[in-house]
Amino acid sequence: MFKPTNNTQVAVLVDDVVKQFNVAAVPVWRKLIRRSHQAAENGNSTELKARRGKEVITAVDHVTFNVQQNEIFGVLGPNGSGKSTLIRLLSTLLLPDQGRIEVFGLDIEKNDMQVKRLINRVSVDAAFFKKLSPKENLLYGARLYGVSGPEANRKAKEILKRLGLRESSYTSPMEDMSRGMQQKVAIARAFLSQPIVLLLDEPTTGLDPRSKLEVQAFINELRDTHNATILITTHDMNEADAICDRIAILDEGKIVALDTPDGLKKLVSHNGQTPSLEEVFMQLTGKELVEKDDLTDFVPEKVLA
Ligand SMILES: Nc1ncnc2c1ncn2[C@@H]1O[C@H](COP(=O)(O)OP(=O)(O)OP(=O)(O)O)[C@@H](O)[C@H]1O
Ligand SMILES: [Mg+2]
Repeated sequence: MFKPTNNTQVAVLVDDVVKQFNVAAVPVWRKLIRRSHQAAENGNSTELKARRGKEVITAVDHVTFNVQQNEIFGVLGPNGSGKSTLIRLLSTLLLPDQGRIEVFGLDIEKNDMQVKRLINRVSVDAAFFKKLSPKENLLYGARLYGVSGPEANRKAKEILKRLGLRESSYTSPMEDMSRGMQQKVAIARAFLSQPIVLLLDEPTTGLDPRSKLEVQAFINELRDTHNATILITTHDMNEADAICDRIAILDEGKIVALDTPDGLKKLVSHNGQTPSLEEVFMQLTGKELVEKDDLTDFVPEKVLA
């Protein structure tokens, strides 16, 4: 298996990456109504032609950055700014339309199998066999990553202990566990295979404050004990401030700022007062971070082939 050498510094390289999606255009009848209103206002009836078709959304727009080995790198951005698309590109679930992505010098398109072994993606709703127990899920994950039977057993037990799970829960269905604990089991899968790059898409969204802190501590522990490189997306400014070494702020698919939390604050500080990251974000994007519930624009069924 590929092992990065000690002098490898760049864990993830993203170079001028673009990803676009074709989506269904605004329904024709809605366009017609809108345009007929405009036409009436302008006294111009030729405006009534509305075309059925596709619209192109640029979810990731010429994005360039790199993540250093052993770094915790945060990606912040409002709903629809391209965070998850970026994570999906890095985890080889999507291919870029333009640009280059490398993980420890391996091109994600040319060496996708090798790259897959180096990364572990956990999304906001971690994928599990909910009817299976945490232990069964961990063993299944271990075998997928090629860890041998006895080794997988030993590691699964060690992880479950470290997570603070009661022994009786080791074998109860995952669906009976709290979301925070489920999320921790998902992240803990990284301990099994020791992937070198962890891609965490909003791992703490929807967790109560205590579970949130526990998951954050766990992420820090993984970095320290497993020499992991972590790329995390979040809407939580305090979280980004607390755990990230550097943060990229994404807006409409573009990086509008990239620096350490302190560097970002200096960027917009005025009258010598240190702003919060929340204020930095507002100034750079002119937007507030919106909650998931407000997301109305993405309707997967409307996506055209
Ligand atoms: N599979 C897809 N097909 C079509 N459009 C998509 C697809 N995935 C994402 N998009 C669009 O790309 C843009 C970026 O979406 P993405 O999910 O990456 O944003 P996000 O920053 O993760 O948002 P959130 O904070 O809500 O998770 C949005 O406009 C979204 O509607
Ligand atoms: Mg997302």
